[in-house]
Amino acid sequence: MERENGKPAIEPTTLWDFPKQSYGKTPKGNWKFNGVTPAGVIWNMLQRYTKESDIVIDPMCGSGTTIDVCKEEHRKVIGYDIAPTRPDIIQNDARKIPLENDSVDMVFIDSPYGDNVKYSDHPDCIGKISAEKDEFYHELEKVAKEIHRILKKGKVVGWVIGDHWRSNSGFVPVGITIYQMLAKYFEPVDIICLTRKHQRSNTDIWKQRAVQHNFYLRGFKYLFIMRKC
Ligand SMILES: C[S@@+](CC[C@H](N)C(=O)[O-])C[C@H]1O[C@@H](n2cnc3c(N)ncnc32)[C@H](O)[C@@H]1O
Repeated sequence: MERENGKPAIEPTTLWDFPKQSYGKTPKGNWKFNGVTPAGVIWNMLQRYTKESDIVIDPMCGSGTTIDVCKEEHRKVIGYDIAPTRPDIIQNDARKIPLENDSVDMVFIDSPYGDNVKYSDHPDCIGKISAEKDEFYHELEKVAKEIHRILKKGKVVGWVIGDHWRSNSGFVPVGITIYQMLAKYFEPVDIICLTRKHQRSNTDIWKQRAVQHNFYLRGFKYLFIMRKC
């Protein structure tokens, strides 16, 4: 991202029209990774909720977008994943994070939304569990408890998640169910709707399916920003 007088050229007041994955001096994550997080979402949260040298954790780091954004913004960062895609990601199950209580300034997580995407063959990948099963929410609740444990008091987690729709099972409100679970542990700061211009569902075949099965083309995900009190 271009900077003027040491300040970001774009103020973190909105997520709209944010530059793509390739802003700044270094690449951010891997846009070919299935389920990659837009780097601007993480950048925006860093500007709002952290300062230089703060420690940021991503327990499900995927292609490493959080690591790359944090490094460029001079934040300390640890990225974990059950199936690391590169050497600077530490292999770890997000249900048990190897960090002290109250030790972290911000957590960012873009978790599986169910079993709609294959991330890896690892048997402990939560992305192998259908969002139609209670088990999916129980396992993500274990992750939420760990995030709550490691965050310092007053600090926030940003959790990205989307809903589920299939022609055989219909609509499953994954996002709202996860929000209700998070609200047991955290105080809400904000709920952001993340829209993407280049959604895979924005194609003729998906438009035909949407008409045939009478469902909306869902072009958004949630970003839940929650604070540890
Ligand atoms: C939506 S992707 C994250 C994308 C990432 N933010 C990026 O920009 O590339 C979800 C990730 O959760 C990881 N994951 C699934 N179950 C996990 C578990 N039990 N512990 C840690 N990571 C897990 C998957 O391997 C996958 O990389």
